[in-house]
Amino acid sequence: MDYFHYRDGQLYCENVPVEALAHQYGTPLYVYSQATLLHHLHALQKAFAEANPILCYSIKANGNLSICRLLAEHGAGFDVTSGGELYRALRATPPKKKVPIVFAGVGKTDAEIRMALDADVLLFDVESEEELWTIGTIAQQMGRRAPVALRVNPDLPPKTHIKTDTSVKGVKFGLDIETVVEVAQAVVGHPGLQLLGLHMHLGSPIIKTEPYRLGADKAVHLIAQFRRQGHQIRYLNLGGGFGINYRRDEAPPAEAFAEVILPAVRATGCQLILEPGRFIVGNAGILVSTVLYRKSTGGKHYLIQDAAMNDLIRPTLYGSLHRVWPVRLPPGTPERPPVDMSVDPERANPFLDFPGSLRQDVVGPVCESGDFLAKDRPLPVLPRGALLAIFSAGAYGMSMASNYNSRPRPAEVLVTDATHRLIRRRETYADLICCEEGCLN
Ligand code: LLP
Repeated sequence: MDYFHYRDGQLYCENVPVEALAHQYGTPLYVYSQATLLHHLHALQKAFAEANPILCYSIKANGNLSICRLLAEHGAGFDVTSGGELYRALRATPPKKKVPIVFAGVGKTDAEIRMALDADVLLFDVESEEELWTIGTIAQQMGRRAPVALRVNPDLPPKTHIKTDTSVKGVKFGLDIETVVEVAQAVVGHPGLQLLGLHMHLGSPIIKTEPYRLGADKAVHLIAQFRRQGHQIRYLNLGGGFGINYRRDEAPPAEAFAEVILPAVRATGCQLILEPGRFIVGNAGILVSTVLYRKSTGGKHYLIQDAAMNDLIRPTLYGSLHRVWPVRLPPGTPERPPVDMSVDPERANPFLDFPGSLRQDVVGPVCESGDFLAKDRPLPVLPRGALLAIFSAGAYGMSMASNYNSRPRPAEVLVTDATHRLIRRRETYADLICCEEGCLN
């Protein structure tokens, strides 16, 4: 579900033609739909309403201040994973409001721990024993008792891309499920630590509910053991990872995730925390680009456009699929790219050809053969200057963008019904060198 749709052959974001945005702000351009953002936040709030969950939006998915502010105004807290993300969270917090913040990550520095204690975070999600004792020591030095949740690796079967699966045995995340109870025992009576919760993040994106059921069952069992040790466990944090529709309808709705998670909340009586990122922002953003050139070589057809791996690295890094479609449809093209959901989504190209289409690789100007946004896609033949929309780019798009090849990062625009506003200006060439200029001798 999103608010990007074709009307009379033209792509709209809510009630604004995407073409008008491209003309006003230039390309490459990230365009976000406020209605889509809020739709997904509300879908989670509704599906989990029984538990009145603390929804800590995962800033790593998209840390734009205006997006974070909007979500906080509608009831979200934040999940952060670095001092920089904590800084964003604090800057995005609406004035005179306190929002819950959870702090995860395997390598929190002493400075970040102090910063988080100063910011009064709701919980540290602790990922190793050494980190636990460090947080305890720093908290004591500051005359505090740090609120912590132990992040456990539940040791589940593979469930998503190997680079983003965080709950298989041997990954760097969390404490081993075999020894986490011993670690909890050692925290009993610690003057600098208060063990208040259990944390688990399975990986991302996950388009099955079963891993959550398995993880939640293990969490219930562990919480009972922590409580027997005397810990006042208040929080069950089941992380993020809920999958979205990159192709069309492959992801379960929020209710399906709730169905397998809520029993653990009932069983423990804990306050549920979730850390959704992609689910909220993924389908709320597109990347808009301009066709620069067409080229055929070695039996392949290339569509060279002005967005590249530095703007959206997911296809290159994970082989992920983003639908790519013209902003203005040539006459005779169907209004939605046809998708064959019967093929194995991991291996086959799920797009069917249609009359007049040509299989093309959508590539950018970056000097690597690995610079592509889509491969072998049936697309209409498009002239220079045509605009393309790369869909489902709201999560891990701009937040993973870089300046590789000294390319300024794109602008970001937020659309609300028939209005739009710039929420991050396009970087300039001067921005590219601003941290170096003062160092030139
Ligand atoms: N909580 C923790 C502890 C996490 O590590 C993550 C994501 C989340 C929450 C949010 O997950 P989400 O709800 O957004 O799926 N760059 C990759 C995804 C990396 C996810 C890292 N951790 C991608 O583009 O697919």
